Amino acid sequence: MKTLLHIDASARKTNNSVAAYNSISKSIAATFIQKWRILNNEGKIIHRDVGANPPDFISQDWIAAVFTPDSAKTDNQKALLSLSDTLISEVEQADVIVMSSSMYNYGMPATLKAWFDQVIRIHKTFTFDLARGDFPLEPIMSGKILVLITSSGEFGFEIGGIREKMNHLGPHVQTLSHYLGVEKFHEINAEYQEFNDDRHINSVTNAHNSAKELALKLACS
Ligand SMILES: Cc1cc2nc3c(=O)[nH]c(=O)nc-3n(C[C@H](O)[C@H](O)[C@H](O)COP(=O)(O)O)c2cc1C
Repeated sequence: MKTLLHIDASARKTNNSVAAYNSISKSIAATFIQKWRILNNEGKIIHRDVGANPPDFISQDWIAAVFTPDSAKTDNQKALLSLSDTLISEVEQADVIVMSSSMYNYGMPATLKAWFDQVIRIHKTFTFDLARGDFPLEPIMSGKILVLITSSGEFGFEIGGIREKMNHLGPHVQTLSHYLGVEKFHEINAEYQEFNDDRHINSVTNAHNSAKELALKLACS
């Protein structure tokens, strides 16, 4: 049975009294999870909504605690790292990570960046060795799959699209995912939210269908 880590990041919920206020990225992730549950009903699912419950930002004391050897860590330092320890253990358990994210200011929400800053940690998720030359960082984990589900107000962020160079969401998450041990990266995008026209309806419909198809494929692989 596979373990799935589900991270949501939009600041919006999915049960607003006005449906138009609901998070599109979270609702597409929910479609993926619904299908996955049917096919993997005994598999564990860990859910974190960092939009609703943002992780703490890291601080100078946090960085100092990370670089203090375990044997010398004070109780305060251990407490400061306990959220990071928990979030990392959730990544360690996961075979598949499903991450839903809004595009805010052409990148990820600050809450999702805060999650990455808590999780990508020396000696825990990566090692650093100058003997490796110009690329001293190496991930510790391996073999994971990440599915990134995004929603944006504008469109054309794909490779060759009219806003490719403005896309600091998918490429950033893909770069970081290497340090979580991700070896296969999938992306599903809903676009045009701000245009609120047929292109938006089609984009969201296609994204829900892609989420179902990918859940089927990954659950059965
Ligand atoms: C603070 C904020 C910043 C946004 N910045 C962008 C942006 O840079 N580019 C874009 O295409 N859409 C942008 N949008 C639109 C959102 O990406 C869009 O509403 C998306 O559907 C939000 O995801 P959600 O529906 O899952 O909440 C922004 C929306 C908000 C609230």
